[in-house]
Amino acid sequence: MAKLRFYGQACFSLEHGGTTLIFDPYLSANPAKIAKPTEVHPDYIFVTHGHADHLGDTLELAIKNQATIITTAEMGRFLESQADGLKIEPMHVGGQWKFPFGKVKVTPAIHGAGIPGGIACGFLVDLDTVVIYFAGDTALFSDMKLIGRRKPIDYALLPIGDRFTMGPEDAADAAALLGARNVIPMHYNGNVRTKQDPRDFAKLVAQCCDSEVVIMEPGETIDLS
Ligand code: NI
Ligand code: MN
Repeated sequence: MAKLRFYGQACFSLEHGGTTLIFDPYLSANPAKIAKPTEVHPDYIFVTHGHADHLGDTLELAIKNQATIITTAEMGRFLESQADGLKIEPMHVGGQWKFPFGKVKVTPAIHGAGIPGGIACGFLVDLDTVVIYFAGDTALFSDMKLIGRRKPIDYALLPIGDRFTMGPEDAADAAALLGARNVIPMHYNGNVRTKQDPRDFAKLVAQCCDSEVVIMEPGETIDLS
């Protein structure tokens, strides 16, 4: 059984078979204040792009836990320029790789990289028993319909905050394109410019597709099945 924990904004940890993954580890500066970087112990750190609410505490976590960073080549090089001895597994959009915990595919995301010359991304993680799509910060794009075509997505984590990413209406369209069994809204209410009621998003999804919306409170952990 995989366990997913939400830390607010776009930060989630995923624990499965004794391995802990963390996505966009925005902890110390996260207004949700769910955990300090010293309180989480990831084996792998996924970084979608370099904006502060995603890069977060990546360096501190990587160094303290000897964790492996999975990110794009440009972000990997940027991180290597910031600290010595990091374990980095560079990947890029469209590419897949098998790690001990499961398969990772890097997906497109339409968003700024936060560093010169890079691009933002998302991640499709196949733990064999459960497939999770972590969209990162992105606009709606019609190729989302291709992401789950070989193996259905069980949980899609989608930004709904608007202003910097998809808002609720576009995220509902994304849910329809992805055909995910469950959709978890993220990247909202982090500040006054991304205020949303996730229940409004749930109503839009109910009108457009069969996906179930699972609203997670910051600090909440759910079992993925
Ligand atoms: Ni961003
Ligand atoms: Mn963001």
